[in-house]
Amino acid sequence: MLQVKNLSIHYVGKDYVVKAVDNVSLNLSKGELLGIVGESGCGKTTLARSIMGVNPQSAKIASGEIFFQDNKILDSEDNLVNLDYKWKDIAFIPQSAMNSLDPVYRIIDQMREILIIRGNHSKKSADKRSEELFNLVGIEKNRLRDFPHQFSGGMKQRVAIAMALALEPQIVIADEPVTALDVIVQRQILDLFNELRNKLNLSIILVTHDVSVVAYICQKVAVMYAGEIVETGPVKDILEKPFHPYTMGLNNAFPDLHSTNDFLVPINGTPPNLISPPTGCRFKSRCPFEVSKCETKPDRLKINDREVICWRTNDQTDLLAKSKKIETWESQE
Ligand SMILES: Nc1ncnc2c1ncn2[C@@H]1O[C@H](COP(=O)(O)OP(=O)(O)OP(=O)(O)O)[C@@H](O)[C@H]1O
Ligand SMILES: [Mg+2]
Repeated sequence: MLQVKNLSIHYVGKDYVVKAVDNVSLNLSKGELLGIVGESGCGKTTLARSIMGVNPQSAKIASGEIFFQDNKILDSEDNLVNLDYKWKDIAFIPQSAMNSLDPVYRIIDQMREILIIRGNHSKKSADKRSEELFNLVGIEKNRLRDFPHQFSGGMKQRVAIAMALALEPQIVIADEPVTALDVIVQRQILDLFNELRNKLNLSIILVTHDVSVVAYICQKVAVMYAGEIVETGPVKDILEKPFHPYTMGLNNAFPDLHSTNDFLVPINGTPPNLISPPTGCRFKSRCPFEVSKCETKPDRLKINDREVICWRTNDQTDLLAKSKKIETWESQE
């Protein structure tokens, strides 16, 4: 469905360049739910917005291509950003979408705007489609005439999902769709994504900083760190047997019901500044397993249906055992 090849996106300011996304590649198949996970500031939103073609003007495509079903929708060579597919085939639920509903318009008016202006619906068919969409996301159709402030946070998120689905897209990219919701509502929204994926055979990219969200719902995951995808593969493998020390650290930072540890292990320090990212491995200054080789950039290794950039994949069993101990991470920074 979607193929991102060697994409680099730089924010160019007067006296700085932020290398927010660096040489990122990923694939999304029909009906697949792919998670993109990583800490704040590692480039998740920039990557998601590039696929949708809605990055701000200061974001320059430094390299790469994006294909939607073999159609090129982005190309760094001729600075092409093809927006023909926007909303119709690829829809986007931006970060904090539920807070971006217009407070002075009724929901039905905001739905009509998408359906009539972008989807060429008549007013009558827009209203019918709005009712269908509310039904699909589990809100009573008589709430369509309400204003956004009359909805709870979870309901506003459902409205944002309904709007994204308005023109029957094949891909939905959702940026942090459950952040700021309580855990029960989070689960309801995640279940809704799963139900929609099954019912509509949707392909979904779900951006999150929360590994437990990925564990709950995704089939495949791409782990982002400092603008790069450091590890990607099936969720079960990545959670149970990660290769990359950053993934090991991320997995430690969320509670595991089967673990006997009564503590969570933090990764000390913060991600590097993306104006001048470190040479070699970008995680090395926070990595308890750094060796001299990490001064040079690791190759991207393919291991079955997984990919990882780390020099120490051969030591996986040893590193994984050590990574579960708090003392391993305490010595860092
Ligand atoms: N418009 C902009 N101009 C300059 N730098 C930007 C701009 N937007 C984002 N950045 C920088 O690009 C990097 C990646 O930001 P991005 O928003 O993509 O991260 P993120 O992973 O989505 O973070 P979060 O989890 O906090 O949403 C950060 O260093 C950020 O400061
Ligand atoms: Mg973001």
